[in-house]
Amino acid sequence: MSTDSGSTSTDTGSVSTDSVGANIVPRTFSGIQPTGDVPHLGNYIGALRNWVDLQESTDGIYCIVDLHALSVPREPGEVGRATLQMARVMLAVGIDPQRSILFVQSRVREHSELAWFMQCVTAFGELRRMTQFKDKSEANEFVSSALFTYPTLMAADIVLYDTDIVPVGDDQRQHLEIARDVSQRFNSRFGEVLVVPEARIAEVGARIMDLQSPGNKMSKSSDSILGTVTLADTEDEIARKFKRAVTDNDADVRFDPVTKPGVSNLLSILGAAKRTDPVTEAENYTQYGPLKADTAEAVIEMFRPIQKRMAELDDATVTELLGVGEDRAREKASEVMERVRRAVGLF
Ligand code: TYM
Repeated sequence: MSTDSGSTSTDTGSVSTDSVGANIVPRTFSGIQPTGDVPHLGNYIGALRNWVDLQESTDGIYCIVDLHALSVPREPGEVGRATLQMARVMLAVGIDPQRSILFVQSRVREHSELAWFMQCVTAFGELRRMTQFKDKSEANEFVSSALFTYPTLMAADIVLYDTDIVPVGDDQRQHLEIARDVSQRFNSRFGEVLVVPEARIAEVGARIMDLQSPGNKMSKSSDSILGTVTLADTEDEIARKFKRAVTDNDADVRFDPVTKPGVSNLLSILGAAKRTDPVTEAENYTQYGPLKADTAEAVIEMFRPIQKRMAELDDATVTELLGVGEDRAREKASEVMERVRRAVGLF
């Protein structure tokens, strides 16, 4: 199957498919879990902002993956509330519902259906090797089978839209590899039915680290709230978190993630916020204090317009836009699902 992902166009509102899975404009798909809190700086730099940028040159489909969020225990209603909040944030960061499709995973039932087909071509051993499963299953008392098969639902999300490009942070690398492997395996068993996706992991900012423990990636489940900067933080909170950020033993400023993880993380954040690069940024500093202050300032500037839009978007508007996205997503998903059923040759 040939996928013409070389051609780009700014007219990304509609995409035509000239044969099975061959997109005229490359298709981008990505997802984020609605997990209660608003996204953190890592989600924004590592993922959301790239999605917004990719809207210029690709046909974007962005999904709030609420079914994935259910793979660990949740209270009734919790995921629904978090989904609405996440949609508000996604619109505020600049996902444009005119150009891209923004929708909620559970509203398009083909995701669950295709996940089963994906499970049928995924080996138990492949899933057992997933490092995220190992980490999460150690951290949780109740380990659901959904946590184990999580990557197969993720593979279904992606291939359901004939996706060419999947922009993600570095922590999703292994999940993308399995999505490629299982879609290739499906094709080798049933014919050229699925587009095999490619991960797009940015060079700068794909792994933003915790400000208090720079050996760990920034995450919603961090031990210290000082370690994670979120889109809900006030300017004072952001300034305080950077001021208290853990740096390294010797005093010089250079970009060296192995021996200087704390300072290198600050330089990555500063470089990403200013759209420069961390090595160049390092040349401007001889002390930690000014580096921390400037990084905080750059993040505050970057977040300010987003936080303003978040406050302006009301629930009714967000819900209506999700409804439009859902219909558009379902239309595409049902085509691919039908193709899969036919290829497998069910009754
Ligand atoms: P999730 O919800 O954990 O994270 C959403 C996106 O944010 C990126 N990210 C980071 N990037 C840089 N530094 C960090 N510290 C950091 N933390 C998170 C993640 O890499 C991700 O791109 N399994 C996925 C959701 C998913 C998905 C999909 C993604 C489900 N189906 C299909 C792509 C395609 C997840 O849990 O992301």
